[in-house]
Amino acid sequence: MKLKEYFKKNLKLIDDYMDSVLPAESEEPQSLYSAMRYSLFAGGKRFRPILAMTVYKMFSEDYEKILPFCACVEMIHTYSLIHDDLPCMDDDDLRRGKPSNHIKFGESMALLAGDALLTHAFTVFLGESLNAGVDPEKIVRAGEIIGNKIGIMGMVIGQVFDLESERKPIDLKALEKIHRNKTGRLIETCINVPAVFTSIDNSRGVFLSLQRYSSLLGMIFQITDDILDVEGNTEELGKTVGRDEYLEKATYPRIIGIKKTKEILKSYVIDAKACLKDFPDNEYCDILEGIIDYLVERKK
Ligand code: IPE
Ligand code: IPE
Ligand code: MG
Ligand code: MG
Ligand code: MG
Repeated sequence: MKLKEYFKKNLKLIDDYMDSVLPAESEEPQSLYSAMRYSLFAGGKRFRPILAMTVYKMFSEDYEKILPFCACVEMIHTYSLIHDDLPCMDDDDLRRGKPSNHIKFGESMALLAGDALLTHAFTVFLGESLNAGVDPEKIVRAGEIIGNKIGIMGMVIGQVFDLESERKPIDLKALEKIHRNKTGRLIETCINVPAVFTSIDNSRGVFLSLQRYSSLLGMIFQITDDILDVEGNTEELGKTVGRDEYLEKATYPRIIGIKKTKEILKSYVIDAKACLKDFPDNEYCDILEGIIDYLVERKK
């Protein structure tokens, strides 16, 4: 299976599904629904839902059951980007190659569009997973994991550490904590939720390998994001390069230099690939391996 085709096919599946669970722009209030749709369909890579879909397919064929979560994780991710770009946060004017949500719709509507995407993410996850026939107990368990990993045990505290570390000298351990929380935890849900749904969370060895893979993937993802802020190209990346330097953010290149950053990244890539050794005969395992290289080689 070619990774590019696989991504394209699944991206369309996920986009069509998200379109079906979001109110139309013609409905009232048009201002809110347009702002939600503007950022959600601005051309994100959809790497998180594709990851969740792939892990689910490794163990089960009825992928319709994971689609609500796929939409949920992408809506949560998009909400986090809208809020991350606000003037009170990273103050970024460009996102996914277009003016940021608050530039296009104003700050109040950007705040509300983010709120609405976050809330709707849970509505879709709970209601549509149930409609698809997922065991209610599994939905509740997975819902608790998502809540923890994006809230006070994960993404939100990561964003707090990120803001509080601007213009401060911090060590590598603190930096790793920022990245694990602000970016890693949401990516981890893309393993944890399919694991709960397919009951592989009960088979320790398999689950632990995938869990380790996902936490390494989170670090690989954010370290590459930090590198792209230095070495990337605004046009290709779809967001303004050099913002981290300007804001004196806690990033790998700023704290330990670009050479050491790339060494650490390389060692994480080796470790992440090693986690997949246990699943040699699974075609979706090749996709998981391909995702690692894709994340490091990406230009956007
Ligand atoms: C950007 O995420 C924000 C980070 C967590 C670094 P992505 O690089 O996945 O952004 P999109 O979804 O493709 O726009
Ligand atoms: C974003 O990290 C993390 C979240 C949105 C939770 P960054 O601030 O590095 O992401 P970009 O570079 O703006 O996409
Ligand atoms: Mg940020
Ligand atoms: Mg940012
Ligand atoms: Mg960044």
